[in-house]
Amino acid sequence: MRLEGKSAIVTGAGNGIGKAIAELFASEGASVMVAELEDGPGRATVDSINAAGGAAVFQHTDISNEGSVGAMVAAATAAHGTVNILVNNAAAFVFGTVEDVTDADWNKVLGVNVIGTSHCVRHVLPAMRKAGGGAIVNLASVSSFIAQPAFIPYNASKGAVLQLTRCLALDLAADNIRVNAVCPGAIKTRATDQHIASLGLDPEEAYLEFGQDSPFKRMGEPSEIAYGALFLASDEASFMTGSHIVIDGGATID
Ligand SMILES: NC(=O)c1ccc[n+]([C@@H]2O[C@H](COP(=O)([O-])OP(=O)(O)OC[C@H]3O[C@@H](n4cnc5c(N)ncnc54)[C@H](O)[C@@H]3O)[C@@H](O)[C@H]2O)c1
Repeated sequence: MRLEGKSAIVTGAGNGIGKAIAELFASEGASVMVAELEDGPGRATVDSINAAGGAAVFQHTDISNEGSVGAMVAAATAAHGTVNILVNNAAAFVFGTVEDVTDADWNKVLGVNVIGTSHCVRHVLPAMRKAGGGAIVNLASVSSFIAQPAFIPYNASKGAVLQLTRCLALDLAADNIRVNAVCPGAIKTRATDQHIASLGLDPEEAYLEFGQDSPFKRMGEPSEIAYGALFLASDEASFMTGSHIVIDGGATID
């Protein structure tokens, strides 16, 4: 049990990578708060964890709303005593060229991915300091450091998430709070399915095509990202901060 006795918040844990992280953390002994905008998927993750013998609670959360984030942390502290681990996984997916993107699009993507992530960190700090430290794992992306066609708002936001990770790590080291990131490549999730649908592509053909960037010639599964987050959240990563793990099937080797 690599997270025995730990209290973890996973944002956006109703789907995809966040769901896989919440389930894996619970199976490793953590008490998990599923903090999710969509109540149905969020409650389904909680049900699956509790049915498997784990401990999870649901909290309706919009990370872009600071009041909602404050309530999330208060509820996690009430349910599990403290917060030892925060996984900033929730994200908005907004794509396009610089001419496509409206100010409303920018406000959405930066409001969730950058400002929302900052809200979550700010509000867990008192509990983590009281507990003597903590671990924060941010979901960045290979999109944090490569360019992709017509991906401007999403990639700008994910570049910012990686820089947020580094700067937070410096500022919070004195509090014994480690801050690291996981950078996934193309993973099979609802967000990917929605992107494929928006492009009008056939899902099976798109999975094959998106997998071609990897020398394994396939896309990744959410669980393959969750194991990276588990390592960074656990005491095994005690000498890591301000760092990131790329899990992309080798897609960005060259
Ligand atoms: N899927 C990929 O290929 C991929 C690649 C690189 C990085 N990532 C990153 O991994 C993370 C998870 O992505 P995913 O593909 O599993 O996405 P997903 O859309 O499948 O799941 C994201 C979840 O976040 C929730 N959410 C969205 N906005 C929210 C908000 N304001 N407050 C609370 N919850 C909110 C959604 O309801 C959803 O359940 C994201 O940070 C994403 O940028 C994904």
